[in-house]
Amino acid sequence: MSLMLGIESSCDETAASLVENGRIVRSNVIASQNDLHERYGGVVPEIASRAHVQRILPVIDQALTQAGATLKQVDAIAVGNRPGLIGSLLVGVSAAKSLAWSLSKPLIGIDHVQAHLYAAMLSPADQSDASPLNGLQPGDIFPALGLVVSGGHTSLYRMDSPLQMTLLGRTIDDAVGEAYDKAAAILKIGFPGGPKLDKMAQSHANQTTASMTCKRPEPKLRMTLLEKESLDFSYSGLKTALLYQVRGFPQGRGAASHFTRSADDLTEAQKAEWAHEFQQAAIGTVRVKIQRAVDHLRSQGINVKSLLVGGGVSANSLLRQEAQTLGQANGLHVGIPRMAYCLDNAAMIAGLADVHFRLGRVDDLYLPAIATTSLVP
Ligand code: KG4
Ligand code: ZN
Repeated sequence: MSLMLGIESSCDETAASLVENGRIVRSNVIASQNDLHERYGGVVPEIASRAHVQRILPVIDQALTQAGATLKQVDAIAVGNRPGLIGSLLVGVSAAKSLAWSLSKPLIGIDHVQAHLYAAMLSPADQSDASPLNGLQPGDIFPALGLVVSGGHTSLYRMDSPLQMTLLGRTIDDAVGEAYDKAAAILKIGFPGGPKLDKMAQSHANQTTASMTCKRPEPKLRMTLLEKESLDFSYSGLKTALLYQVRGFPQGRGAASHFTRSADDLTEAQKAEWAHEFQQAAIGTVRVKIQRAVDHLRSQGINVKSLLVGGGVSANSLLRQEAQTLGQANGLHVGIPRMAYCLDNAAMIAGLADVHFRLGRVDDLYLPAIATTSLVP
């Protein structure tokens, strides 16, 4: 049996988790900072770092208590050390190094993006046979197509193992989660925007399905698909299209430039309709790119066996449906994390650390915090 302590502090969640054998989550504690950043409409790095410092030790204590484990029983200390906000990363990395040094335990640095793609392997201790990839061995899962959809990343990878990833395509401007957050700000529906916009879009979709008598109307926001075979993403056009629909075209130039309308001029039903339009275009784009990537890999003779999805936007209701539909249509296993492991968490860090640990890949106390990812050139 192996037991990993994972620590995550790359952005605005302070998290710690204990994971057994790389798959069974014995505790998953997340202290969210949404309340601290809400009034600014986005994450303020200095506030995030300070909150991490205040919370990291209580969060680790809580994770140990919930797992009924002691630090002595832990085999290694894992920490997300890249990519992220540098001040935030440093708090988790310093805590992990201190523990590793004082306990003489191995230290393992984990790439946050890679960890998101491991999250589908995890299940809670009381339902240990219920991970989305239940019962499957690496040979059944890989080669896989990996999709990371978060606030900072929108990338497709060919994966030959949890640690071997080749970039196939990525966003050339905004990440999809970032576009969700900006769209929510345009519609003035609050922070964090992604989950709120998703809920609104869903309620609109449910209402229209209930009352629909004719075929689906033409979309009002178009998908940006780039060149015919491109596996890259672009979300800035969709965001701007929504901005102009909601606020009108900007009038005047330079300092005198202004909008004539705002989201306050919309009814709740109109906001929900725009949320729905945005969701259809944003996730529709992901659907098209997944299919292109599967076709691309198969055209190269690569027998893709599964679709692995990770990152905050994997919590999205429409994306979860689309992933299942695509999986069925293409004969792929679908590894989309349980809801508890979609957003930033430390269980994915501890889980992936188990893979490193078994391969003897451990770090020393010079482990750096790195703001950019090592996976994206
Ligand atoms: O992975 P994550 O927690 O942090 C990063 O590594 O970026 O992802 C956060 C992102 C945010 O942009 C958030 O708005 C988005 O994931 N998100 C969602 C949903 N839940 C979270 N976007 C769309 N629909 C959701 N249900
Ligand atoms: Zn993340």
